Amino acid sequence: MEPFNAEPPRSALVSSYVTPVDLFYKRNHGPIPIVDDIERYCVDISGLIETPKMLYMRDVRMLPKYNVTATLQCAGNRRTAMSKTRNVRGVGWDVSAIGNAVWGGAKLADVLELIGIPKLTSSTQSGGKHVEFVSIDKCKEENGGPYKASIPLSQATNPVADVLLAYEMNGEPLNRDHGYPLRVIVPGVIGARSVKWLDSINIIAEECQGFFMQKDYKMFPPSVDWDNINWSTRKPQMDFPVQSAICSLEDVQSIKPGKVKVSGYAASGGGRGIERVDVSIDGGKTWVEASRFQKTGIPYIADDITSDKWAWVLFEVTVDIPHSTEIVAKAVDSAANVQPEKVQDIWNLRGILNTSWHRVHVRVGHSNM
Ligand code: MTE
Repeated sequence: MEPFNAEPPRSALVSSYVTPVDLFYKRNHGPIPIVDDIERYCVDISGLIETPKMLYMRDVRMLPKYNVTATLQCAGNRRTAMSKTRNVRGVGWDVSAIGNAVWGGAKLADVLELIGIPKLTSSTQSGGKHVEFVSIDKCKEENGGPYKASIPLSQATNPVADVLLAYEMNGEPLNRDHGYPLRVIVPGVIGARSVKWLDSINIIAEECQGFFMQKDYKMFPPSVDWDNINWSTRKPQMDFPVQSAICSLEDVQSIKPGKVKVSGYAASGGGRGIERVDVSIDGGKTWVEASRFQKTGIPYIADDITSDKWAWVLFEVTVDIPHSTEIVAKAVDSAANVQPEKVQDIWNLRGILNTSWHRVHVRVGHSNM
């Protein structure tokens, strides 16, 4: 189907810390382009700069290569659950429009230095304050024009922000679905800003005026509907808030009475670590703390130098379930932000950022389960 959108089953999603490419969700707004002439492929860098440049793959590969482990999450993750409260517009997703990969490529800060923009610049001499990424794929929301997005120049030129022009995913060249030959990775920010199949980079004064920056992927309060919406009143969503989901159990899941493993993922935007994941087996009245982990053999400590700051954290706890109940998970990030309890309180017409407590119902049976 075009556009091609897919997510893996919950249980498969958390079977490894680094998500295999085949199990990584795919989110597209138009048909997936084919780039086959890699010698001639280049990114046109222009806008409010002195010296525009055509950036070829060999130029990108000549820059220092970085491998950044980063979780990409679609802002629409868990939209289906939000639409059960009240109707929303958008592709339906369960809890798996998220994945964690090792992205290999050049830092955007190094690329911008090639065109004379020093590290840690927030404005160029000619007033450039944003970096716009324009893609090769075309979509109907842009009236047949290319998919595009932007990030602030200060983030793009900050090496610590780890924004990449990536040509590898999990040690392999990017595949077509994920943006071959070159895509942007903006760690800690909603997936919509990580533009695939990069065609050009523009240094601009205002943020990108494209559909997905201005008329989509913005967070509105529950009182705003399609009759009273004024898109210009809100900023484009960038960092994603703290999120978690149980992946070892479906909603509804039949089990035998006794010990049950509750596992899943937690992630927060902006490079914030996960300080705690709480699990409840009585619908949120009482809680136990789950154990958290990233890499085998290295204890996870939020915001520690040993942790992958842009990556999700997997959690696990074994609980005793004697009778049918509701199991709930909520995460707390290193800034003590916590997931909201009720989806109703964060409902928004586009169904983005459903980060409400994640609930699954278990039905306990005593025979032939
Ligand atoms: N880039 C282009 N060119 N076209 C797109 O449709 N979708 C965006 C982003 N980059 C998109 C894009 C969205 S909404 C998300 S969530 C991520 O890509 C998904 O990346 P993935 O398909 O590699 O998982």
